[in-house]
Amino acid sequence: MAKKITVIGTGYVGLISAVGLADFGHTVIGVDIAQTVVDKLNNGQPHIFETGLRDYLQKNLNSGRLKFSTGIADAVQASEVVFISVGTPPNQDGSADLSQLMRVVEEIKQNISGYKVVVIKSTVPVGTNRTVFKLFKTNGCDVDVVSNPEFLREGKAIQDFFHPDRIILGVESERARAVMEDIYRSLYLIQTPCVWCNLETAELIKYCSNAFLANKITFINQMANLADAVGADIHDIAKAMGMDGRISSKFLHPGPGFGGSCFPKDIKALVTMGEKHDVDMSLVREVIHANEAQKQLMIKKLALMLGELKDKTIAVLGLAFKAETDDVRESPAITIVTGLLKEGCRISAHDPVAMQNFSRLFPDLKFCRDEYEALQKADALIICTEWNEYRNLDLEKAKLTMKGNIILDTRNLLNRERARELGFTYKGMGR
Ligand code: UGA
Repeated sequence: MAKKITVIGTGYVGLISAVGLADFGHTVIGVDIAQTVVDKLNNGQPHIFETGLRDYLQKNLNSGRLKFSTGIADAVQASEVVFISVGTPPNQDGSADLSQLMRVVEEIKQNISGYKVVVIKSTVPVGTNRTVFKLFKTNGCDVDVVSNPEFLREGKAIQDFFHPDRIILGVESERARAVMEDIYRSLYLIQTPCVWCNLETAELIKYCSNAFLANKITFINQMANLADAVGADIHDIAKAMGMDGRISSKFLHPGPGFGGSCFPKDIKALVTMGEKHDVDMSLVREVIHANEAQKQLMIKKLALMLGELKDKTIAVLGLAFKAETDDVRESPAITIVTGLLKEGCRISAHDPVAMQNFSRLFPDLKFCRDEYEALQKADALIICTEWNEYRNLDLEKAKLTMKGNIILDTRNLLNRERARELGFTYKGMGR
């Protein structure tokens, strides 16, 4: 049966969920505190860049099942189910900042009438769902709390929402379980597996999944560095490793270190959780260090190739933390640009969609119209993000445009044989 749903928070997770749940046939109110964001969304204009989102947003606004509002009280009162998907950014000590979540819980509490299911989609430390449940109960609210972590990736968020590998549902009452079955009925039809578990298990599944993937990337990055040192090819190694079904070929692409709003924050939170419970998290802690070292290594590699960084002009292609997004949070490009500027380099930067966000951090940087403008008179080129359009960079044109002949391709995008034929000194990762 279709449900009346409120989704609080219209960031990546909240907005995609609101649009997706409306597409499943439910009636959805997306709530955000920012009036400008709400106005834009009601006009069919997403405030985040995500492939396919605009069409789905418009389609569901047109259906009349989806709208956006700043009025949390009215939305909660009108809904049977309330999803919370507000941010849980890191505190100074790495723990998750739950202030936004707790403010929202307080507002929900004040507007409860009758039975409601509160679904927490935000990534929250283990124990948070139960704490929230107890808060509702001590206030006499007739509420069930469900932990339903989200696994969508930026850039592939729509595809991930409609075709998830699995749905995790921390549910501890039959009544709430029946509600969640109704909500995800469309995914049942395509036989998406559901994992039903308790609240703590659901919360920890999310952290374990992200930490494992961060671990896997860090592993392949270090092996790529070793492959570089011994003359092996990391692509052949990753391919061969991936043929072992126990390993799988995914997330074995070496790069300049992982970034984004999730992995860095979640592994720090996991270490803090371990410390709180006196459990050794040395492996995860080492991933944090190794990932930072990987970003710094890109600067050292470039310095080695150039001999001297001071007064060199560097073309930086790719500023987003990965392709298909305008998100620059924890992007390796931030560390790399910061380091190069500190060494006295001049930077010409380009990204297909992330320049505006990057310019908030580096307002004085030279941002270029396209990749070839960035290459003008450059001593070296460093590619930081795996945008498809950089894969097809015209190397002959690049050679004529650049002053120098150095290429550091931290995502292994370019045809290295061709680059070397043209006289470039080319280095990739582990090749
Ligand atoms: C990640 C998870 O993949 C999602 O499942 C999860 O829902 C999300 O975090 C979250 O917790 O919200 P996301 O941060 O969007 O998603 O990006 P990923 O595609 O996982 O990439 C993360 C970083 O790892 C990027 O910097 C990317 O360039 C890097 N990466 C990824 C590699 O360097 N190599 C790889 O093989 C894969």
